[in-house]
Amino acid sequence: KKGSYDHFMQKEIHEQPHSLTTTMRGRLKDSGVLLGGLKEHIKTIRRSRRVVFIGCGTSYNAALAARPFMEELTGIPVTMEVASDLLDRQGPIYREDTAVFVSQSGETADTLLALDYALENGALCVGITNTVGSTLSRRTHCGVHINAGCEIGVASTKAYTSQIVAMAMLALAVGSDQISTQARREAIISGLSSLPSNASEVLKLDADMKELASSLIDSESLLVFGRGYNYATALEGALKVKEVALMHSEGMLAGEMKHGPLALVDENLPIIVIATRDACFSKQQSVIQQLLSRKGRLIVMCSEGDASAVCPSGSCRVIEVPDVADCLQPVINIIPLQLLAYHLTVLRGFDVDQPRNLAKSLIQH
Ligand code: UD1
Ligand code: BG6
Ligand code: NA
Repeated sequence: KKGSYDHFMQKEIHEQPHSLTTTMRGRLKDSGVLLGGLKEHIKTIRRSRRVVFIGCGTSYNAALAARPFMEELTGIPVTMEVASDLLDRQGPIYREDTAVFVSQSGETADTLLALDYALENGALCVGITNTVGSTLSRRTHCGVHINAGCEIGVASTKAYTSQIVAMAMLALAVGSDQISTQARREAIISGLSSLPSNASEVLKLDADMKELASSLIDSESLLVFGRGYNYATALEGALKVKEVALMHSEGMLAGEMKHGPLALVDENLPIIVIATRDACFSKQQSVIQQLLSRKGRLIVMCSEGDASAVCPSGSCRVIEVPDVADCLQPVINIIPLQLLAYHLTVLRGFDVDQPRNLAKSLIQH
């Protein structure tokens, strides 16, 4: 089933142009999006006082990537909950809330317990899952199957990008009654339809990421700084490195850099800074300058053609990625980091598809 690939994770990373296509198939129209599973519930979602995104691990990170455009397109406040933490706190959930549960497998115990809790509290419960017939799909009031195809590698890759795309379609559908954002919605729809080809383009960085991995093989730690649309990319890139390459890695909000993390910076610790084009670009340029002035060892991810804009001194290693609609950039930016984590794992001699101590919920339906 791995075909010409050595590992499922590698196959699933390279499958993304196709899995993104199947996630959107039959759902994208010039005039808007059509999500069969939500038709009857869109008006209720629009009327909700709050949207609460709930998930674990990579699925939580996908929801975090979706938060900015969900807020922008719907005007509804969005709060984030790690499933176990919501349960630990018994945090408030109300009838006026829409609780969106994100889970590749649809079987993660903490997520399902949080679902029971939200159902008891009367929220409208929406599922975003890859698994038709899963407990999450059955117990939620409605939802969207992401249709990314079966994911075998324990480290989620193609499901992450498809989850973000499914939530982009959800945000477009909920926000479709807002005249003031119509042009923005059209631009995002056109951005969505280009994503599969952008993903093919960025996968050409495979050899570069293998080379970058070989330069990081003996590092003890890797930091990843992101902000805005790409805060989630920083967390998810670091999670991939941690869970498969078994290297300590932290994703950090770049806006918090000077409130602690800056103390860690020296000439040895590798730091990835995500600085693709969006409204936060100039803030990221100044983060890079501050890190360089402390002799930081920087790897900067930027938009194609921006190498000298992000690193005028030429002293950073640069990863150039295709520029897409700003809010969809996390779908493309994670791919080089998935490749990096994959190659780092293979070069360090660890098991790619079955990382130590981790398991995937794999229930056949
Ligand atoms: C559905 C069909 C698809 C068909 C299409 C044609 C299924 C599973 N999907 O897709 O094969 O090509 O119509 O129009 O038969 N749901 C939840 N919770 C979740 C996910 C989904 O309750 O977490 C519900 C939805 O609200 C919906 C149903 O499951 O009632 C199917 O969802 P989805 O597959 O996303 O719907 P369509 O895209 O319309
Ligand atoms: C964890 C896995 O157990 O579950 C993570 O180690 C995964 O990789 C998380 O992201 C959530 O899984 P799911 O199926 O709910 O998306
Ligand atoms: Na359901």
